[in-house]
Order: sequence, then C-alpha cells, then structure tokens
Amino acid sequence: MKVPNSVKLVEVGPRDGLQNEKSAVPTAVKIELVHRLQDAGLREIEVTSFVSPKWVPQMADNAQVMAGIHRKPGVRYSVLTPNLQGFEAGRASRPDEIVVFGAASEAFSQKNINCSIAQSIERFRPVVAAARAAGIYVRGAMSCALGCPYEGEIDPARVGMLAGLMKDIGVQHVGVADTIGTGTPLKVMRAIESTQLHYGIDEISGHFHDTYGQALVNVHAALQMGVWQFDTSVAGLGGCPYAKGATGNVATEDVVFLLHGMGIETGVDLDLLVDAGVFISNALGRMPNSRVSAALLGRAANT
Ligand code: HMG
Ligand code: MG
Repeated sequence: MKVPNSVKLVEVGPRDGLQNEKSAVPTAVKIELVHRLQDAGLREIEVTSFVSPKWVPQMADNAQVMAGIHRKPGVRYSVLTPNLQGFEAGRASRPDEIVVFGAASEAFSQKNINCSIAQSIERFRPVVAAARAAGIYVRGAMSCALGCPYEGEIDPARVGMLAGLMKDIGVQHVGVADTIGTGTPLKVMRAIESTQLHYGIDEISGHFHDTYGQALVNVHAALQMGVWQFDTSVAGLGGCPYAKGATGNVATEDVVFLLHGMGIETGVDLDLLVDAGVFISNALGRMPNSRVSAALLGRAANT
C-alpha cells in the first residue's frame, strides 16, 4: 500500500467548527483555542472567515481574533474570503493563505454564497489575482463534492469541472469537501481522480465531515491515492449553517491517532490536542465529539 511518510493537517475547528455554533463564543475563547492548537503542534490553522455577519454572525469578530492571536513561527494562518470585500477586510489581518469557497452543486452555491457557480468564479477571479499579487497563497474549497443537501448525488465530472474553473483563475490548491458527510471511499476516489485532471496530487486535500461516520475511511481512501493534506477539526467541531443536519468535520484527534498508528508523522502531540478539545468543548458545554478523545480521557480517569 502506498501511503505518505508525513501528513499535513489543516486545523479548521476555529472556523468551520465555531461558525455553526448557536450561541456566541467569546473572542478570547477563540484566541485561546488557536493558541492551544498551535502549542499542540498544528502548523496550519484556519482561523476565521471574512463573510457577511448577517449570514454567519459567529464569525463577526474575525478581525479581532486575527489581531489577538500570538503568531508562532512556522505556523500558517488562513481565512475564508468569498469576495473582494471579504478579501480587503481579511488582508488587513495578514493571513498567510486565503480560501475561496465554491461548490460542485448549483443549489448549494446559491444557498451558501448567494450566486451561481459561474458567478462565484467571477467573484473569485479578482480575489485570487489580488491575493497572489500580494504573495498570499490561495486555496479553493469545493463544497458538495461527494453529495449535496439539495441536489443529492453529485457526478464526479462536476467536481472536475469546478476544479478546472478554479485552476483557470489561478487557485493554487483545491480541497475536495464532503460538506454533508455522505461520501464513501469509492466516491472519494472518483472525485479526487476528477480533480487530478487539473491539479497534481500535492495540490489536493481532503475535507470530510463525519455526519455518517465515514470520514476516517474516506481519509484512508484518499491517503492511498497519495493525498497527504487533510482539513480536520479539534473535538469534531463543525458544520455549515447552509447544510442543515451536517455535523462536524472528522475529529483531528481521531485522524492523528489513525496516522500515528500507521507510522505517519503529523508533528502533533495527541495529549495536548485532546486538552485543546476539552478546553473548547467545556466552553461550549459539551463533551468532545471524538472517539479517541473519549478513550484517552476514559483511560486517564481509570488510572
Ligand atoms: P450577498 O448578500 O449576495 O452580498 O452575500 P452582496 O455583495 O449583495 O452584499 C450584501 C451585504 O452584505 C452588504 O451589506 C455588503 O456590505 C455585505 P449591507 O449594505 O446590506 O449592509 N457583504 C459583506 N460583509 C462582510 N464581509 C463580506 C461581505 N460581502 C458582502 N465579505 C456573501 C454574499 C458571499 C457575502 C454571503 O452569501 C456570505 O457571507 N456567505 C457566507 C456563507 C458562509 O460563510 N458559509 C460557511 C462557510 S463555507 C463552508 O463551511 C464549507 C467549507 O467548510 C467546505 C465544506 O465543508 O463544504 C469551506
Ligand atoms: Mg466544512
């Protein structure tokens, strides 16, 4: 079996995780979460999004969070920017990377960013150009690559089509995103194959929500294809306000346990990561949504 020696994890808990919370999370808690994640060894953190506060009120303190974090050398910080307005606001907070987010489904594109796929590409075009001119790396998220809450099944060819559009406007890396967690390994492989028509395997990542409990096997399927970059979320936080019923991303703790068990390096200290998950879960008034976290906490309680 061909698997990479090391894997890069992009921790999306502060953004994908907290954007979906019903009650407001204090800015200081978000900042502390980022600090704990970087202290646990995460080297890529998706911190927040510069979207409309009317659409996603939880991310309204984006600039304050970015201003409040103590940046650690070697750590890269990314933010979501759906349009030029978001890019200009986000740029002031000096991100290392921005994320434009499109969808392989027309209906989801409309619900999430209020425009068609074609219109979204035209909105992203000047964002990508401005970011690259400023030396900021550009990643593209491809939502609903494995299924859509409104359209159901998504033909892998549509994922390839979106990847091609992203490539044409200069997006440097794309994430195959299972927004609602209905993907299974063969679908993952087909979506990645379609993406590979436009991007090399080193420029493709996996972003799997765990709604149906398939995210870990989907990570494993992608690993076998040579994918070595994954978005994960501490304590399994997450969801999208415009994908009702979808639960969090695959828990970072679970992915780290899987990878370390396969002899694959992540640079992450699992104990400190579990602590970070407990910290944010306590702040949200619930238990971490991670089997590995529960197992390690249970073992610690019994010794
Ligand atoms: P719109 O209403 O079409 O925008 O929203 P507009 O250009 O017509 O402007 C309307 C108002 O929004 C104006 O304010 C603008 O100033 C304001 P008003 O004059 O009415 O007071 N506005 C903004 N404010 C702040 N920041 C901005 C911005 N742009 C316009 N950037 C828009 C279009 C894209 C803004 C809106 O639909 C939006 O904010 N959508 C974001 C939805 C979102 O954040 N979803 C979750 C993230 S994606 C995700 O989770 C999926 C992912 O994890 C992968 C996966 O799992 O699939 C990445
Ligand atoms: Mg997501």
